[in-house]
Amino acid sequence: MTEDIYEKIMTLAKRRGFIYPSFEIYGGIAGFYDYGPLGAQLKQNIENLWRRFYLLNDTCVEISTPTITVSEVLKASGHVEEFTDLTVDCKACKRAFKAEDLLTDDTLSVEEALKEKKLKCPTCGKAFTEAYPTNLMFSTSIGAGEGRKAFLRPETAQGVFTNFHFLYRYNRERLPFGVIQVGRGYRNEISPRQGTLRQREFSMAEAEIFFDPKYKTHHLFDLVKKTKIHLFDNEKEFTISLDDAVKKQVINNQALAYYMYLTHEFLLAAGVDQKKFRFRKHASDELAHYATECWDAELYSERFGWIECVGIADRSAYDLQAHITASGTDMYAIRKFDEPKVVEQKKIVPKMDVLGPLFKGNAGKIKTLLETMAVTDSLKKLTVVLDGKTVEIPKNCYDIILVKETVSGEKFVPHVIEPSYGIDRVLYFVLEHNFVETTKKDEEYRMLQLKPAVAPVKVGVFPLVNNEELSSLGKQIDADLRDAEIISYYDACAGIIAISAVPITPQPVVSLWHGGK
Ligand code: GLY
Repeated sequence: MTEDIYEKIMTLAKRRGFIYPSFEIYGGIAGFYDYGPLGAQLKQNIENLWRRFYLLNDTCVEISTPTITVSEVLKASGHVEEFTDLTVDCKACKRAFKAEDLLTDDTLSVEEALKEKKLKCPTCGKAFTEAYPTNLMFSTSIGAGEGRKAFLRPETAQGVFTNFHFLYRYNRERLPFGVIQVGRGYRNEISPRQGTLRQREFSMAEAEIFFDPKYKTHHLFDLVKKTKIHLFDNEKEFTISLDDAVKKQVINNQALAYYMYLTHEFLLAAGVDQKKFRFRKHASDELAHYATECWDAELYSERFGWIECVGIADRSAYDLQAHITASGTDMYAIRKFDEPKVVEQKKIVPKMDVLGPLFKGNAGKIKTLLETMAVTDSLKKLTVVLDGKTVEIPKNCYDIILVKETVSGEKFVPHVIEPSYGIDRVLYFVLEHNFVETTKKDEEYRMLQLKPAVAPVKVGVFPLVNNEELSSLGKQIDADLRDAEIISYYDACAGIIAISAVPITPQPVVSLWHGGK
């Protein structure tokens, strides 16, 4: 049987120490992969190249937060309720599948396909149960006994949102600013069937850019606005400048368009093939629960077709508003007026002597929630949300007073644009788009022609002849390269083997050859 490109790449990747299934000595399990010496370095180089775009070019700051996340955060963010995939179980063999993966007819929904008996178990061919939602988060608990309920984070983003008030102060209370996080994310995929493209533990690189919604612009947009990008709106593909895309409202705002540009530049710098690259707009019924608009950077694979590698979403005020409501923390930003204004407004003054005995440990949180609440004329009864439950606050717990204040600005909840990268997917496409097969003198070569910026080894030093003088010169060159922080690979034997067994053809120094089968 002939190998397809994925099999060829995985054979090379395993043999050369890039990537291979985890726990293989115990039979392995879908969705987990190990990175070997070259793979781990390649991944680190891709992540560091990404950092160059976001930390240096875009002046974001980087933070690092735990991967284990208490359930309150993910309840507030909507992941406990919404982060689900529709699942079907085979009535005969009992295997579970993600229903969407089994759809062959794009025009039918899962429910319609089940009703028309168009979904059959791919393993035994029998019928399925009704579809039901399965949450994709891995759950755990912190501490002994029952412990505190927690999840392995499904995205790094929530660690940034829950830090917003510190980061806003760190940025001297100015917007916009961006915060990145690079790290592991976890999704308990129902039946992952796309090899390294659908991992259950994976590496993400995410940027959360906080904006005043009145100004969703980017200070570098003018410099890049003539750049053309290739878009797919689910009906047609077309190429358009960033400027026209925003003017014609194909892309909603400059900020979103700018981060699409940055994504495009990063992926090309990492070595993906521009001809196999497009941005696809999410249809309204596929948007994540937090997004108002989302464009996926999709890359084309000979085996898998178009695959999402990056999602660039407008998350609006969704997450910060959710954490303000659930935690009672002041996560507002201030929009300064040109001149201070005298305003008359109604304010809630909480009475701690009543709130305290009534709500005990929650009293402080309720006080903050009441103090930041806007009082409108239509307000009949006061409610707050505590641990996801709406709680009515009795009238004797507060006063409403009219105050005249000189204010220098108004509060608002910042909006967020989020470019979110699946690093393992980017890495796979760097391999697939740079995989080269050639035959020279009846010898078959499989190579990776990687860009120097991401190549795990930049230079190979091979003395080629078994000679003391050349070996010691080779070792010195290798040491000098390492002193200059250039990762090199020295191998006296490889050179000799290469000379005797495999003809060495002129190749870019960053190619890794894989001679013969
Ligand atoms: N943070 C984006 C995502 O989880 O896909």
